Amino acid sequence: MENNIYTPKLARITRIETVTSIEKIFDISFAEKEDQENFNFLPGQFVELTVFGVGEAPFSITSNPNNKVKFQLCIRAAGSVSKAIHNLKEGAKIGIRGPFGKGTFPYEKAKGHNVLVIAGGLGLAPLMSFITYMMDYRDKYKNVMIIYGAVTPTNILYKNDIAYWSTRDDISVCVTVDNPDDKWTGEIGVCTKLIPRVDFKPEDTYTLVCGPPVMYKYVIKELEKKKFKEDTIFLSLERRMECGVGKCNHCHIGDKLVCVHGPVFSLWEVRNLKEAI
Ligand SMILES: Cc1cc2nc3c(=O)[nH]c(=O)nc-3n(C[C@H](O)[C@H](O)[C@H](O)COP(=O)(O)OP(=O)(O)OC[C@H]3O[C@@H](n4cnc5c(N)ncnc54)[C@H](O)[C@@H]3O)c2cc1C
Ligand code: FES
Repeated sequence: MENNIYTPKLARITRIETVTSIEKIFDISFAEKEDQENFNFLPGQFVELTVFGVGEAPFSITSNPNNKVKFQLCIRAAGSVSKAIHNLKEGAKIGIRGPFGKGTFPYEKAKGHNVLVIAGGLGLAPLMSFITYMMDYRDKYKNVMIIYGAVTPTNILYKNDIAYWSTRDDISVCVTVDNPDDKWTGEIGVCTKLIPRVDFKPEDTYTLVCGPPVMYKYVIKELEKKKFKEDTIFLSLERRMECGVGKCNHCHIGDKLVCVHGPVFSLWEVRNLKEAI
């Protein structure tokens, strides 16, 4: 029988980690060994996750594509589906469709160049797939810098990974918070403040950006001040989705569908979607 694109495959939550008051990381494996083995994704792609009896929503895959045993999602409790996922326990059965999206982070194009990663809030989650993949092939990339902005120190995601990157001399990490607490000794302010310090040559650098929509305008302004080019800046976009596979038209921007042509687009593509950022 032919596979129905709307039928999710059965999967299980194998581990849950509470990372902030509103975000949890979920390890997921397919129930069938064959489904797990055939699940190949690229950095930037997403899945549609079903909570049975509640509904379905898209989530970026946050784990390293080289991990074939399981994959990870980082989910913020925002509404009906995401709150229902937060209420699930380890071992719970869920449905997964995907991976979806043809627009991925430029993991191939960026080889042989500097990489600048700029993340705001939950935006670090989709970028984790790219960052962990890049670390597996670290010698293929030149200098790497990660700039991450969070609202407060308690909102910082992936603290262990950040601590580990800070111990390495082949990657530079700068974390800043809008509202520090008494213990915070790091940078204060929005992440755009740190961009003027980047000393990578624009013609030799790929920049990957993911964060709340309001952040993009200011990040792009700072990058363009430094003469970074439109076709080397990549942005992950979010739109309300239904089908995830290019059928319902819910996620269109101009003549493009975020679920099929994105969710990652170059700034050049975004500007040619005729939707101003
Ligand atoms: C490609 C992609 C990747 C994503 N990756 C992640 C991720 O990694 N982690 C993550 O936590 N989230 C991610 N999201 C967001 C996620 O898919 C959901 O939008 C989010 O979890 C809320 O869904 P929900 O069903 O829980 O909430 P909903 O019940 O849909 O409500 C969420 C909020 O949206 C509002 N809302 C509800 N319906 C509409 C509507 N029709 N139009 C406008 N607003 C509406 C509600 O009022 C509420 O404020 C991603 C989205 C996309 C498109
Ligand atoms: S979500 Fe249906 S076309 Fe993109």
